Order: sequence, then C-alpha cells, then structure tokens
Amino acid sequence: MTAERARITVFDTTLRDGEQSPGCSMNQPEKLRLAQQLDRLGVDVIEAGFPIASDGDFEAVRAIASVVRRPIIAGLARACRPDIERAWEALREAARPRIHVFLATSDIHLQYKLRITRDQCLAQARESILFAKSLCDDVEFSPEDATRTDPEFLCRVLEAVVEAGATTLNIPDTVGYTVPSEFGALITTIRERVKGIENVTISAHCHNDLGMAVANALAAVAAGARQVECTINGIGERAGNASLEEIVMAMRVRPDKFAYETGVVGEQIFAASQMLSEITGVPVQPNKAITGRNAFAHEAGIHQDGVLKNPLTYEIMTPQSVGVPDSKLVLGKHSGRHALGIRCEQLGYQFDRRALDDIYRRFVRLADKIKKVEDHHLLELIRDTHKPSGSATPLIEPIPSAKAAAVNASAVTAPAPEPVKPFPVGPQTNAFGVPLPAHTDPHHEQTQQEDYLWGV
Ligand code: KIV
Ligand code: ZN
Repeated sequence: MTAERARITVFDTTLRDGEQSPGCSMNQPEKLRLAQQLDRLGVDVIEAGFPIASDGDFEAVRAIASVVRRPIIAGLARACRPDIERAWEALREAARPRIHVFLATSDIHLQYKLRITRDQCLAQARESILFAKSLCDDVEFSPEDATRTDPEFLCRVLEAVVEAGATTLNIPDTVGYTVPSEFGALITTIRERVKGIENVTISAHCHNDLGMAVANALAAVAAGARQVECTINGIGERAGNASLEEIVMAMRVRPDKFAYETGVVGEQIFAASQMLSEITGVPVQPNKAITGRNAFAHEAGIHQDGVLKNPLTYEIMTPQSVGVPDSKLVLGKHSGRHALGIRCEQLGYQFDRRALDDIYRRFVRLADKIKKVEDHHLLELIRDTHKPSGSATPLIEPIPSAKAAAVNASAVTAPAPEPVKPFPVGPQTNAFGVPLPAHTDPHHEQTQQEDYLWGV
C-alpha cells in the first residue's frame, strides 16, 4: 500500500517578487497573459502584485483578480492601513482573494530600516492583521527577514498574528542567508512553540543568494511547511527566489525523498518559462535546471550514444514531462558517430559503415572549427563528400592521411546517396522513433563499443 502524499500549496510570486528583479517589470496586459499561463500551469496561489506600489500594478492586480478565477489571487501590503486598503480594493472582485501583509521582525531591520522597537513591531503586526481580517477572510502574514530574527521574538509575533486571524504564516529567508538544516529546524521550532499553529498553514519563502533557495524550501516542507513560495525560472530580487519548476520536479522525480504532491501540470512548465522570458526579454540561463535550453541537450558522444540507446541513461525525467518538445542531440566536436548517423537518417540519408566513417571524420574536423554543426552544415558536408572532386568549394580541407585519402577516393567514385524513406516506427524503435539495431550483424557488439569510444 502506498503512503498518502501531503499536498503542497504552490504560491507563485513571479508577478510580484519575480517582477522585482532588474529588467523583469511587466505591464498590465503582460501580467494578465502570464497569470493565465500560471492558471494553466495549475498553481494554487498567484501573487499578482503590490497594489500600492503604482497605479499600473494596482490595475494589473485588479484585472487578474477579475479574469483569473480558479486560483487564489494575492496582493502584497505593508503592515499599514493605506497599503491594506489599496490591496483590498484591487482584490475585491477576485473569486478567492488573499491579502498578504508583511512586516520586518529582525533587529537589524527594526533598528535601521523601520526605527521601531520590538514592542511596536508586535503591536503593528497584530493591528494590521486585525484590519486585513476585517476586509478579507484569507490573510497571510510574513515576518520579513525571519531567518535573522531572534526565534523567541519571531514566535511571539507569529502567535499574535495567528490570534488576530492570519490563516497563513509565511517564513521568509529574505536575504538568502539560511541553510537547509537550520531552516528546517526553524520551522520545527515554530511548530512546537506557536500556540494555534495547527490551525494555520506554514509557508516557506526562500531567496537564492547562496544558491540554496530550493534546498531550503524543500527542508521547510520536510519540517512541516505546506506552502512554498516560488517563481518561474527562479527570477526575483537579487539572486532570485526558489524556482517553481525545480521544487515541483524534485518532488516528482524523487518521491522517495520528497513524498509530496502539487497541483502543477508539469507539461505546462516549459511554456510558462518561455512566455516569461519572451515577455521580459530576459533569457533563461542555458544550463538552468528543467527550463534551460541545455537541460535536455546532449553533446558528448558517450552521452548521445547512451541516450539514443535508452534515454534513461542520461535523463532523469523526460523532456515531455515538463513540456519540452524533445531532447536535443547537439552535434559538436564531442559527438559520436552514433548521433551523427541518426541525424543523417533524420535528414533523409542512410550510410553504410564506411561512408559514415568518412562523413564522421569530416564532421569532426568541421566541428573543431565551428562550435555547433547545424543541419545545413551537415547537408553541405554530405553533398560535398559525395560529389565529384573539384566541382565545388569544399566545406573543409581534404583529409591529409593516406588512409583517409583512400577513404576519400572511394567516396568520390561512390554515387551520391539517395534520400531514404522514413523508417517505420514500430516496437523496435527507441524514444526518437529510430529503429533499434537488428542485432544480426556479427560486428554489432564491436560497433557499439566503438560508438562509445569515438565520442571520448
Ligand atoms: O523576501 C521577502 O521577505 C518578501 C516578503 C515580502 C514576503 O518577499
Ligand atoms: Zn522575497
């Protein structure tokens, strides 16, 4: 019997904290378009903006609240009446509105930023939640800089806001300072010490200044948090927020370690990532986990050979499971003959072993000069290899060695390859729709071994 998995609420703050990252601001139609994609993605809460910040943000929150009806729509407010009133005005048409109130609690913020005492902070937190609660049932409170707050004072503030009616307690690691063991322990302390905690949801909001936002969020969940705040592509203040796609896929790929589930539709992840990048003009870092363009690309020959034989050799999730159309075999100088042969077949050419050797040698020399061999280079190279010598400018110089020259000579006299019919796709195909070898060739094992070695 499989154990029941706890359901984690995914609170997306791409449109609020994410938008605060340099170069990522969005106008109202852009925010609405992205909110609709976040809805398709299946997030539970969309933090649509900070309504007091500007008229544009107010209008964007209001538009999202009236159009996007399934998820909870949250608006941010400082712990004061004008902010809370403005947030409520923007949210009131929402099917499921949430006011999110924050107030710093660390001594460094109280002393230098807010210039108030701990007692004043406690009173302000309580009063602001009472006021927000008078307007809206669903109220979230965040003690800003919680991870640098004295835990005893933090618990006093949290207890006061629970008593005042907060329904979610969000614990922000505002400056990305904590580490997983410490953050998990803080959540445990809060669960043990705050009266009434069993009636509210604990949330984690992690920043990535030390590159540990996702690990910290997962540690919080393991310690009992049931909401995670995150953004698409991990965008957000400074080094960003915990990345939604990384949290969700960690839970999906490693249910043995993270036995939780979310309502996120994995197949919509890539579309959300691309839409965000297109709207903001900020490209996704190529090696970004899950959504970077290299996340499912394989260049090394050993890897390409393995993936062609069975994608599980080098892929822990399928590209399709996160909405990426297919994994890419990037043809470069590390690629092997196996991948080259497959790409030639996909382009309509099938070569016997000797012809492929010839193409391969030329390909490696070309790949040494240009980083990535695109299909049009390959087609040119194929045509060049199989045309009468001297009839056109060669793409690369002739191979100088005697053996290679012999190979060339035979290639020169060989007829140009005919495009082959597409392979029938049947049970004997791999994940790329390419037939697996028939295993009748006596040299099959040796060939496979060579494919492995050629890419080294
Ligand atoms: O990082 C932070 O502390 C915040 C709060 C407003 C939740 O974004
Ligand atoms: Zn934040």
